[in-house]
Amino acid sequence: MQPSLLEELTPVPNPYPVVSELEFPDIWKLCEQARELAWDPRSIDHTDIEQADIPAEVRAAGAEWWSLRAWMEHGAIPYGAERLRDAIFGHQPFEVKQHVVNFIAEELRHHEASFHIAQALGGYQPTPRAEYFKSIIPRFHEEGAEKSMSFFGSLAVNTLFEKLSGELLQARYENARYASIQQACKLILRDEARHIQFGRIIMRHFFETLGADEKALLGRQFAKKLQGSLLNGVYAVVNLPEDERLRAGRNRALAADYGLGATHPDEEVGIIRRSLEEIRADVSVYGIEIPEIPELDGQAAVSA
Ligand SMILES: [Fe+2]
Ligand SMILES: [Fe+2]
Repeated sequence: MQPSLLEELTPVPNPYPVVSELEFPDIWKLCEQARELAWDPRSIDHTDIEQADIPAEVRAAGAEWWSLRAWMEHGAIPYGAERLRDAIFGHQPFEVKQHVVNFIAEELRHHEASFHIAQALGGYQPTPRAEYFKSIIPRFHEEGAEKSMSFFGSLAVNTLFEKLSGELLQARYENARYASIQQACKLILRDEARHIQFGRIIMRHFFETLGADEKALLGRQFAKKLQGSLLNGVYAVVNLPEDERLRAGRNRALAADYGLGATHPDEEVGIIRRSLEEIRADVSVYGIEIPEIPELDGQAAVSA
């Protein structure tokens, strides 16, 4: 290939102006908190779950569950990397780039904390055993969908999911009967609270300025992502194929029954539905409407 052709394929955008002036003091405040509240997943002692009297079948279920948590947290990394690139070449102020860098580091430590728990329970699984997870997890982040929204619009949509996962994580924290799992859940929740806060800040700053078309698009993208990947076994088992729904649901129930920091499949949809109602109320202030999601709003929800 001609060198000139290569250059065409990988253009390096102009980074200038590299903005240093503080434009959003409320975002900078979150950056300061992130520095003060940093933590090390390797400082959590997992001896309690290593030595606990837990049946082999339950250990395997817990290891699968925490492996799933680890894959999910890892899924936030490529998403964050793309946003960092957008922030750099979109000449965003320093505090916006710093927040995205913090977000990536924090999701990576959530990933790290999760695979340590999986390891201590019975073994981390680097590749999902179930075929559906092999296909679902990579689709969690669709760059095409992100690029269809504005930079702050797509960040806002994703922070709405932080709220949903925060609610689920709270239930998992309350389910955890072992100190090491409780500790990991608590520290992850503390980071997620900042990610949610970031979403609130950018909604306040930018949502008034959005046109009707983008508002409608944001609502649709939120619903699409929730249905397309997160209800497919990631947040809840509701949209899985029947045999996988039973298998994954049974494992989750086992992990929850033994207090391994899991949500019982029967509780998940209720938590997500309540959280969706709150999210709808939050964004309706800005004229954003989240379309109906049959699995949560419709008949299926009644019988779930
Ligand atoms: Fe996370
Ligand atoms: Fe997060």
